[in-house]
Amino acid sequence: MGIKILGVSGSPIKNSNTDRALQIALAATGHKTEFIKLSNHTIAPCDACLGCIESNRCVIKDDGVMLAEKAYKANALIIAGWTPYSSIDSRTKMFMERLYPLRHRHGLMAGKPGAAIVTSAIPPGTEGMPPAGELGIGAIQSYMMEEGMNFVGGVNVMGNVPCVNCGEDGQCSVSGLKMIFGPNATFEEIGINRLEDSPETIAALEKLGQDIGTAVYG
Ligand SMILES: Cc1cc2nc3c(=O)[nH]c(=O)nc-3n(C[C@H](O)[C@H](O)[C@H](O)COP(=O)(O)O)c2cc1C
Repeated sequence: MGIKILGVSGSPIKNSNTDRALQIALAATGHKTEFIKLSNHTIAPCDACLGCIESNRCVIKDDGVMLAEKAYKANALIIAGWTPYSSIDSRTKMFMERLYPLRHRHGLMAGKPGAAIVTSAIPPGTEGMPPAGELGIGAIQSYMMEEGMNFVGGVNVMGNVPCVNCGEDGQCSVSGLKMIFGPNATFEEIGINRLEDSPETIAALEKLGQDIGTAVYG
């Protein structure tokens, strides 16, 4: 058996910054790991029916039951999400809601080490814009705090506005590039973020993984 760390990514993009960031942190834990991509699974939000009270098991028949079981069996949990409209993405949120059955009467996640990784396009401290990374990490941290988990930390990874892939080069009237960086911004000037080009972020992710790896020993 041994120690196992579960990493769950809410990013639907293939091999996304979010996925790669999570994989870096998982590798740095020094333990056996499992990587789950939520978009490969079917998961609905919590129905608030409280059908899980007696059994600690959700009554919704989808992958949420199996995913909660994996979270319960893992020695630590790293949740990685992204921030459409600057709050945590819905898959990640649904996954957390579906961990609610583990709460009842026994607090089955209590004491377990946990960490957050959130990719966002808005750099921290951007005037007039929501603190996307902070809000995303805060959502994951709130889940972990409310379950009495040992929240080890969070890393905000700089992603890109979707305009990167649109073909208009960020120059249309609803450009996210201009919304965040101002009316004269261009991708040439702002650049396109790739996780591997940021040694500080890689180092922060490795540190997060190491901290999780250590925290499992309690
Ligand atoms: C549809 C869409 C909407 C987004 N909206 C925001 C946003 O409001 N705020 C933000 O910080 N990032 C936003 N982003 C950027 C993402 O949070 C993330 O940084 C980007 O998708 C890169 O993540 P990935 O490569 O892991 O998928 C948006 C991305 C997409 C695709």
